[in-house]
Amino acid sequence: MKCKYCQNIAIVKVKKRNLCKEHFNQYFSKRVKKVLKNVPIKNKKILIALSGGKDSIAIFHYFSQIKEKYNIELEGIFLELGIDDFSDKSLEICKNISEKLNIKLNIVNIKEKYGKSIKDIAKENKKVCSLCGTVKRYVINDFAYKNNFDFIITGHNMNDEIIFLKQNILGNQVDYIKRYTRFYTETLLDLKLIGKIKPQFFVTEEDNRNYCLVNNLDFVVETCPFSEQTPHKKLQEMIEELDKKMDYSLSFINFFIKINEYLPEKELDYRFCSNCGYPTVNKNLCKFCKIMKG
Ligand code: FES
Ligand code: ZN
Ligand code: ZN
Repeated sequence: MKCKYCQNIAIVKVKKRNLCKEHFNQYFSKRVKKVLKNVPIKNKKILIALSGGKDSIAIFHYFSQIKEKYNIELEGIFLELGIDDFSDKSLEICKNISEKLNIKLNIVNIKEKYGKSIKDIAKENKKVCSLCGTVKRYVINDFAYKNNFDFIITGHNMNDEIIFLKQNILGNQVDYIKRYTRFYTETLLDLKLIGKIKPQFFVTEEDNRNYCLVNNLDFVVETCPFSEQTPHKKLQEMIEELDKKMDYSLSFINFFIKINEYLPEKELDYRFCSNCGYPTVNKNLCKFCKIMKG
């Protein structure tokens, strides 16, 4: 089958359009640039959080292609979470791609550096996934702050954003909606918080899978053994089904970006953690120190 836009053979189908490698990469790039045109990435030192999954592998590869044009100093970070085979496999994939693209990969073993692995935390707590999220955010920010990065890139895709929005609509959490419909946050050095960019805000899971496929990139297909069976899965399937017929996700997200302007900005009441000194909304220890000391 031929590509819709040229004579080359089509290798993927995006919203009923058959596309060759070049035209798929153009489509992907257009979606990423919808975010990047709003973010000051030129001449910046940027850290990409790599898990080994399709989302982070895709954006790591994409940035390796544009880093010269924007004069970006690019590095990756992988957290060794200590989840047996799953962690080993993910690390191997991240090491391979960093070598292939010739980009420095920083590896942080959280047990060695902070005292507990995710497996240790799982022994003490039932809902390890959300605690793991706290640990990852903290450790990556800590590394980025201490190594003078300007921004952190995370591999959140459009499906993640939609699930998040729907959860917060159902939970009546207006403040979160305001916070999460942003493409990026500023770096706040006085709070030791490094800004985060979500370049895949308009890129779906399927797009990332296709990007890895057409560019021949290995990614971890196994899911984390601790990943919880939540209603997310059902929602995820519904979104993918609707997206096949129309650009449902895009319309949904665009709607929230518009109403974002009308939502009030809520100032968070920060204190500083008595153990590590990072900002927290807790009274004494921050969430991370509570997990590590608990
Ligand atoms: Fe964090 Fe699975 S990767 S709990
Ligand atoms: Zn083509
Ligand atoms: Zn702390």
